[in-house]
Amino acid sequence: MTDIIPFDQRDGYIWYNGEFVEWKNAKVHVLNHGLHYASCVFEGERVYNKKIFKSNEHSQRLHKSAEIIGFKVPFSVEQLNAAKEAAVAKQNITDGYVRAFAWRGSEKMAISAQHNKIHVAIACWAWPPYYSKEAREAGLKLKFARYKRPSPETAPVAAKAAGLYMICTISKHEAESAGYNDALMLDYRGYLAEATGANLFLVMKNGELHTPLPDCFLNGITRLTVIDLAKKRGIKVVERHIMPEELSDAMDAFLTGSAAEITRIGSIEDKFKYPKISQMTLDLMQDYHNLVRS
Ligand SMILES: Cc1ncc(COP(=O)(O)O)c(C=O)c1O
Repeated sequence: MTDIIPFDQRDGYIWYNGEFVEWKNAKVHVLNHGLHYASCVFEGERVYNKKIFKSNEHSQRLHKSAEIIGFKVPFSVEQLNAAKEAAVAKQNITDGYVRAFAWRGSEKMAISAQHNKIHVAIACWAWPPYYSKEAREAGLKLKFARYKRPSPETAPVAAKAAGLYMICTISKHEAESAGYNDALMLDYRGYLAEATGANLFLVMKNGELHTPLPDCFLNGITRLTVIDLAKKRGIKVVERHIMPEELSDAMDAFLTGSAAEITRIGSIEDKFKYPKISQMTLDLMQDYHNLVRS
């Protein structure tokens, strides 16, 4: 990591409940419902050349995530879009990241917190690519995760909500400790799902692009963008349930996400190896690069 200043010790401003406060003063009390009971939803967005990519879609998803976990974001999508734009300008970000989030406050500290105040904040910072240069050049090394993506009957799987990331952090830490870049998660049925913060695509040996059906994990904004880009190129995109052993029918694979962008996978444990980047992945990376900067 090149960026080592802790996130609570940076300079600048954070948009906090409708106004800018100094970065170091953007605080919460330790007794807040978001921290103790995961009443928190968030977005991760990238800024390219001073412009937030798909800002409106991200604001809409923040609203949707909050609705799914039972609260209403007290700022409209339009207000959020304007606040994010103002935050990017105030921090003078050319290429970076935006984190918009909403959480239940401290009025009641119990499982029931029906009337707790909903807080909203937006922070942005300059940010390099998600994975290291070495990992990106060699292709990511993935390890299968111990935890599975839960069923829609077990958790609010369509929300980008803090609670769903508990198993992601555990899985990512375990993968990193074992010398991998990230973990690849299966779902509760044993199908391929996604990585800990990015969706999965397989470039099949038959020339098609396959991706797991997002019926129990986030249908990423980047995922939808890449599907669109692939279709524009006349590539056949197939969304379906995919078994792990089908990874051997792929010639190449990659992850997609606002943070991860399009990052190629080099291997999954020592079971599946993708030594060479395919022309399809190169083309889609180029298309994505052009689109986010257009
Ligand atoms: C668990 C998870 N899956 C997928 C994604 C990709 O979503 P998006 O492309 O909307 O950033 C993310 C990133 O937000 C994520 O955290």
